[in-house]
Amino acid sequence: MENKENRKIVLELKNITKSFGDNQVLKGFNLKLFEGESLVIMGKSGSGKSVMVKCLVGLIQPDSGTITIKGEDIITLGHKELDILRTEIGFLFQGSALYDSMTVRENLEFPLRRNKDKIENFTGTEVLVKEALDDVGLSKTIDLMPAELSGGMQRRIALARALILKPKIMMYDEPTTGLDPITAKEIIELLRSIQVKYKTSSLIITHDVDCARVISNRIILLVDGINYAEGTFQELSNSEDPQVKAFFKN
Ligand SMILES: Nc1ncnc2c1ncn2[C@@H]1O[C@H](COP(=O)(O)OP(=O)(O)OP(=O)(O)O)[C@@H](O)[C@H]1O
Ligand SMILES: [Mg+2]
Repeated sequence: MENKENRKIVLELKNITKSFGDNQVLKGFNLKLFEGESLVIMGKSGSGKSVMVKCLVGLIQPDSGTITIKGEDIITLGHKELDILRTEIGFLFQGSALYDSMTVRENLEFPLRRNKDKIENFTGTEVLVKEALDDVGLSKTIDLMPAELSGGMQRRIALARALILKPKIMMYDEPTTGLDPITAKEIIELLRSIQVKYKTSSLIITHDVDCARVISNRIILLVDGINYAEGTFQELSNSEDPQVKAFFKN
């Protein structure tokens, strides 16, 4: 699938609506993620960013609209096809969501064991776990429990787990929330280096303006259930629209 600038669209949401009772959260939201780009989604707390990304990974069913990933309509895909497609998408949940009762090693092995029949030339978990821990600079934590790690380290391990199947598309829901500014900066740098190393296409949800500035090629603002404004950080931060300005004033 190509657009007029010949950039490949890896993921597209068209006219997504989703309500919970009479709470209309998404009212016709549109998004295109191009191959290799880092697209940041910003929006106020409660505006529906997590709902949107949960629709994308199939955790929530939208009321209407279409979602295509690599040209496949995921709403009509069967379980098996959806499962295969899912291995190509890494998802860093809001919070770290590590399994508390498992060691770091076991947390990282989990997605590998579940998907080993889908990994080419699978030769065991050992090498892949080591590599994933190296990528986030935490090789020494392999036998620790999540409770023995700091918040920033937990976030890195969650990132390693999301990356272990070498997904082509990565989604990050608030990767820096709850971290102090220095740790947040380290996580942002890590996301950038991973982006360069694995050439992933990334969707990053954040309300951290610094994060958006450093990492985005393009930004979409989610306001009142729609993609209210789109552009580069430079373009949006110079906007005269009060709704847009509100995001960038410090
Ligand atoms: N499973 C659910 N059932 C009912 N309402 C829900 C559910 N999930 C989300 N909502 C509602 O949808 C709205 C959007 O929530 P969402 O979590 O997407 O916000 P958000 O933009 O991610 O906010 P934050 O920046 O605080 O993470 C909220 O009003 C929330 O109460
Ligand atoms: Mg959220």
